[in-house]
Amino acid sequence: MIPRLRPYFNLAELLALLKNNAEPAAVFEKRFAEKLGVRFALAFPYMRSALTTVLKAHNIKDSEVITPAFTCVVVPNAVVVSLNTPRFVDINPTDYNLDLGELEAKITPRTKAVIATHMFGAPLDLDRLAAILKERPDILVIQDCALALSTTYKGKPIWEYNGITMFSFSIGKHISALEGGAVVTNDEALYRRIKQFRDDHFAPAGPGKSLGQILFLIEILGGLNKLVYGLVQFLAEKTSLLDSLSVYYDEERVYLPEDYQTFSPPFRRKWVWPSWTSSLLL
Ligand SMILES: Cc1ncc(COP(=O)(O)O)c(C=O)c1O
Repeated sequence: MIPRLRPYFNLAELLALLKNNAEPAAVFEKRFAEKLGVRFALAFPYMRSALTTVLKAHNIKDSEVITPAFTCVVVPNAVVVSLNTPRFVDINPTDYNLDLGELEAKITPRTKAVIATHMFGAPLDLDRLAAILKERPDILVIQDCALALSTTYKGKPIWEYNGITMFSFSIGKHISALEGGAVVTNDEALYRRIKQFRDDHFAPAGPGKSLGQILFLIEILGGLNKLVYGLVQFLAEKTSLLDSLSVYYDEERVYLPEDYQTFSPPFRRKWVWPSWTSSLLL
């Protein structure tokens, strides 16, 4: 069986999580930017937090944000939470990315942003998108690279193509920090605006969040063990025991987790960004 995800966490990472290193998120931001060859990177608790922040920092509200109809449910949720309306555009069946013909037809005077998702690492046709948006420089293109950490388009890394690109570091992603996200840009003014907004609006997380992450990691270390995994598969397929114990994600409910804006701006003490995220990039 091919596992849906196989994060490479081990005991050393669990121990690192217990340490409280000074400013690990700032170190991560620096190393991530260096690795990608961009000027600036900003860390977030989740990619969805980065999306709400970018929309708010751009003063995009009461507007339409074009969103692929096939994407993670938290993306349209983040659009709604930032007081905008997702305008769904279908995907094409060849690469599962936005159908750009349909996108063109769905642009209205209220459209203020397009979420350009590179689904499963396949690049969206960014030149065609730029041609469609040529007459509308007011529309912000937000590249969703949650599943496209090293994708290139016409020989260039995709994040070189426009002002703003986002990544996710949740459990099933190329680099995982259990949870996490980042925005990268070469535009200093944009970087400063987003950073200012983040630092003004994100609150320090309490010890509960760190404890939750430690328990989550322990759960993953155990859950990915072959024996435990086999037992869980057996219980899931042959019994209803796990159904009665599970809380499933409610796709009908529009919400973001309570902690989506919690981490401490100086990244010290209270909020523990797992220190091994930076060592992964060394
Ligand atoms: C395409 C895509 N965009 C955005 C996200 C959201 O990322 P996060 O969970 O870090 O908010 C995901 C998460 O799986 C995703 O697959």
